[in-house]
Amino acid sequence: MPETRLTLRRPDDWHVHLRDGDRLAQVLGETARVFARAIVMPNLEAPVTTVKDAAAYRNRINRSVKGARFTPLMTLYLTDTSDPDEVEKGYRSGVVIACKLYPAHATTNAEHGVTDVANIRSVLARMEKVGLPLLVHGEVTDPDVDVFDREVVFIERVLAPLVKDFPGLRVVFEHVTTAEAVAFVRESREGIAATITPHHLMINRNAMFRGGFRPHAYCLPVAKREVHRLALRQAAVSGEPRFFLGTDSAPHAAAAKESACGCAGIYNAPVAMAAYATVFEEEGALDRLENFSSHSGAAFYGLPVNEDTLVLERAPFAVPERLGDMVPFLAGETLPWRVAGLGGPTRGPVL
Ligand code: NCD
Ligand code: ZN
Repeated sequence: MPETRLTLRRPDDWHVHLRDGDRLAQVLGETARVFARAIVMPNLEAPVTTVKDAAAYRNRINRSVKGARFTPLMTLYLTDTSDPDEVEKGYRSGVVIACKLYPAHATTNAEHGVTDVANIRSVLARMEKVGLPLLVHGEVTDPDVDVFDREVVFIERVLAPLVKDFPGLRVVFEHVTTAEAVAFVRESREGIAATITPHHLMINRNAMFRGGFRPHAYCLPVAKREVHRLALRQAAVSGEPRFFLGTDSAPHAAAAKESACGCAGIYNAPVAMAAYATVFEEEGALDRLENFSSHSGAAFYGLPVNEDTLVLERAPFAVPERLGDMVPFLAGETLPWRVAGLGGPTRGPVL
């Protein structure tokens, strides 16, 4: 008989978009009831570029949490004019856990992003010196580069040189989508890691064109061919500590996605752990889910693992067609696992 309940050390989400205002209030609970900690992306409409912004945003999140045991971990959005002293201040004050590199115009709210990595060399040098990780949206924005090749070209043109030029800089290659990215991370020096989303483990690029155009399967980096999805699954379930959980849950109003110029982002927070459990089970690797969800990310950031646990149960989980004005990932589908709730504290291995 297969297991019917699975108790994991409580997981963390190392990459999530929580937005602000009413949207924050609407989506936060889905993350906070499951994940103990989350790295909160700084790409608000007015990006989070200063320590003061990050502390204020953290306060707004904490005020919205309403009783859940949840710790938001804050990031700074790098721009061409970011100041090394400000970044160091963020690190020293304990407010900032990492800085985010969005190539300018690469994705949602990336207009203020970095136009050329040469412009932030002094910031990267300071981050390297103090030990502050760099989180990278790894896509070039050159319109001459095919949209499905943007991650691979980014590795060649930007990431490989950066990792060499700053040999002590810790880097997370966010939401990897290609076999080449997996290989790059695996073969890199120490201090290089990657997050993997539930959607890139479950869908390939065909999902955007199934019987018509499907905007809710569109995110950036865009899903690639099946061969890449298979490489991501293999990396996620491998147990290798360089690959860990980051949902990239990116909520948008359905109307903003179902549009002549629909925006990128998949809202997966309501289904994320059920989806990861489904993938790990399909790969015969449920025993390694906890490494991916609850150990490897904490180790990368030098944080303790969580003391409490999350219980998943094998029970049909019918994903709603809509949640408010949003369409969640896997809307209308049924998953074999669902989150039963939080369990008590543990001190030993629980699997
Ligand atoms: C994200 C968003 O909507 O903020 N969208 C997405 O497609 N992933 C931004 C990002 O992480 O690229
Ligand atoms: Zn993201």
